[in-house]
Amino acid sequence: MQLTNKSQNIFLIGMMGSGKSSIAPLLSKKLNVSYVDTDKDLISIFDETIEDVFSKLTEHKFRILESTYFIEHTKQKQHIYATGGGIILKKGNRKILKNGFTILLDTPINVILKRLQSNKSKHRPLFKYGQTLNELKKLWLQRKKYYHECSNIIINTEFKTIDEIVLEIIKAIK
Ligand code: S3P
Repeated sequence: MQLTNKSQNIFLIGMMGSGKSSIAPLLSKKLNVSYVDTDKDLISIFDETIEDVFSKLTEHKFRILESTYFIEHTKQKQHIYATGGGIILKKGNRKILKNGFTILLDTPINVILKRLQSNKSKHRPLFKYGQTLNELKKLWLQRKKYYHECSNIIINTEFKTIDEIVLEIIKAIK
């Protein structure tokens, strides 16, 4: 599928654990549009986990590197992007998100907490296993307005399978 002018890139945004990295490959297959997972790319560029990058360089520097990569890569159009949960924190990134077709995967914080606690395969520096619902809620509330201002559509993902979410996205794009 050739993405239209308005949606030269498709961006999946949302909190960690909202399903961006699982949805992007399936959406890519269905639309026949290649996808990029920014966290995975950064891990292979640094040859280190994001957790290590955070602890060696600080979060502030990670954000600069993440943004530099994002701004540079998105000059190529016709991609689907699974972004890191904090992509909306930088103004330059938000500008890019607003110029594409951006989908907010909105997952209730209690569901996110359960998912993150059960997914030990991906280490997230902003998530600690003892984290409380209130701490995670605080992060969501700090970011909510940015997620909302950048998104063309918001998909509530609770009670939906990955296939259902992908179908919903495809309907919205067409
Ligand atoms: C982050 C989310 C992570 C990763 C980094 C920071 C965040 O990506 O970029 O740990 O600030 O929310 P996921 O959203 O893919 O977990």
